[in-house]
Amino acid sequence: MATSDTAVSLSNVRKTYRIGEPVHALDGVSLEVPQGSYTAIMGPSGSGKSTLMNLVGCLDTPTEGTVVVGGREVGALGDRERTRLRGTEVGFVFQTFNLMPRLNAVENVALPQLFQNVGRSERRERARALLERVGLADRADHQPNELSGGQRQRVALARALVNDPAIVLADEPSGNLDTDTEADILDLFDEFHGGGTTMLVVTHERHVAERADRIVHLLDGKIERIEDLEGSSESRAGSAAGRGTGREGRRNGGGDAE
Ligand SMILES: Nc1ncnc2c1ncn2[C@@H]1O[C@H](COP(=O)(O)OP(=O)(O)O)[C@@H](O)[C@H]1O
Ligand SMILES: [Mg+2]
Repeated sequence: MATSDTAVSLSNVRKTYRIGEPVHALDGVSLEVPQGSYTAIMGPSGSGKSTLMNLVGCLDTPTEGTVVVGGREVGALGDRERTRLRGTEVGFVFQTFNLMPRLNAVENVALPQLFQNVGRSERRERARALLERVGLADRADHQPNELSGGQRQRVALARALVNDPAIVLADEPSGNLDTDTEADILDLFDEFHGGGTTMLVVTHERHVAERADRIVHLLDGKIERIEDLEGSSESRAGSAAGRGTGREGRRNGGGDAE
């Protein structure tokens, strides 16, 4: 059962697409995502990862079952309420970035605040601060087609974070990035997670998934297994060695000390 410590709760969720033969994109998924947790989602192409993210991101509603985000059942909301919930609770980094081609970087990042009752100059200021945070202060006036793939990804990330969402959803965020850019993005995820943001990240790369507390493995629209990464601090210490800095300090001490 969902509690106030639960950021997202899925109960017996089915999502069926009916275009000709029905496709059960999700086929009975139940999952609790605790507030402030970091969950990776893995699975082969077509296993339902993006469908799951779209439901959690309030972009869609389940065919059966319930999806509760920020204490509200997504399927029970009207379009406008769902949009509002998405705007306040969720930051979404899409696989394809979805930046507005005619807007420059700072305008793209500022956009989600339009629905938030934030004044124009404050919107700009906050957007610039986030661009700085992702290392793109000097590209604020560039349009997406004047940016590299990695830079676009960082603009998309800044946009996802501009409303200070409780939950960040990233669908294959490091898809086409070079190693350095990927490391930067993942470090930023660590940073936000350290600040209390709930992270949900789809990836097909093991080393990306291992940044999380646990990995949910999807197969044919079902949870095949959940791999807990937090308990095994010893096996993790080895894999952490190659990751560089940034991660060590983010947990609250615990038994993870060297
Ligand atoms: N809008 C849609 N209409 C019809 N079928 C869809 C739609 N979105 C996804 N599907 C189907 O649902 C299944 C799961 O898709 P998806 O969630 O995108 O998988 P993944 O992200 O894991 O690759 C696939 O078989 C896909 O073809
Ligand atoms: Mg996908």
